[in-house]
Amino acid sequence: MTVDNKLPSPETELAARIVRLKKEKGAVILAHYYTLPEVQRIADFTGDSLALSQQAARTDARIILFAGVHFMAETAKILSPDKKVLLPEPAAGCSLADSCRAEDFAEFLKSYPGHTVVSYVNTSVGVKALTDICCTSSNAVDVIRSLPSDAKIVFAPDRNLGNYIRGVTGRDMVVWDGACGVHEEFSLEKILELKKKYPEAKVLAHPECKKTVLLAADYIGSTAALLRFASTDPADTFIVVTEAGILYQMRKENPGKTFIPAPPEDASCGCNNCAFMKMVTLDKIYRALLDESPEVVLDEEIRRKAEGSIRRMLEIGK
Ligand code: 13P
Ligand code: SF4
Repeated sequence: MTVDNKLPSPETELAARIVRLKKEKGAVILAHYYTLPEVQRIADFTGDSLALSQQAARTDARIILFAGVHFMAETAKILSPDKKVLLPEPAAGCSLADSCRAEDFAEFLKSYPGHTVVSYVNTSVGVKALTDICCTSSNAVDVIRSLPSDAKIVFAPDRNLGNYIRGVTGRDMVVWDGACGVHEEFSLEKILELKKKYPEAKVLAHPECKKTVLLAADYIGSTAALLRFASTDPADTFIVVTEAGILYQMRKENPGKTFIPAPPEDASCGCNNCAFMKMVTLDKIYRALLDESPEVVLDEEIRRKAEGSIRRMLEIGK
């Protein structure tokens, strides 16, 4: 891989050290689209949560360094228990995963015997262990449609994604009342203001956004699907209603197009940036590779229970 020499020199130097060190250590760096641009630039593979979990399942590297949030690194460890999985910043959590604690979910499920439990990958290993099949925003509709048409379904933890896929599939679904602190903050009003200014712009939204926001979208999809749409659609201006980190890839892949990040309801809060994703810095990546720590460690019994739910999802693919 090459290191971008347009970076300021201390960053270029650090990036070059990381690239050397990961080769020496036999490590692969997987990064989510929401991470910092300089982090995405040094990654071996950048993707959405589905692609990253597929990559984690197939890599033969000795070490997986996950530039992303906790549940993503945990998913990699669930799939590759014999590999060392490093999470450079263990405090990089996820407000959505935190909105559904395993003990509360176990209690909740007692009210729904005979239901098939579908969980978004944005969950802890404990919630995955209570799940029949996982999904991501890329394949949620396919996962739901893979179930018998009369199946009774519990979906967790995102109410916006859950309500959206219930609308698309028309299936009988009970939805856990959780949400992502970033996607909840987008407002229809702000998007309509932008639409007045840029009437030709297409609105791209992640399904974790509220229903009012999704109603204003020209296209709804996972981060990878939004990127594909932006590259293939003939429009040249897009209002992007998801975490702002994705703009780096959108602009890189489409230098002639204009991408406008949708502001959150309170524009001063900066909360169209996921604070957890932005905790993963080049410094922390370098240290984690050097020390081969912090490492994701899971209880083997819970890991095994959780593995089935992710493997079932991967069999469906996309
Ligand atoms: P993707 O499935 O699109 O990667 O989204 C993950 C995520 O955390 C969205 O907030
Ligand atoms: Fe979690 Fe939301 Fe951040 Fe995605 S954007 S990692 S759902 S807090």
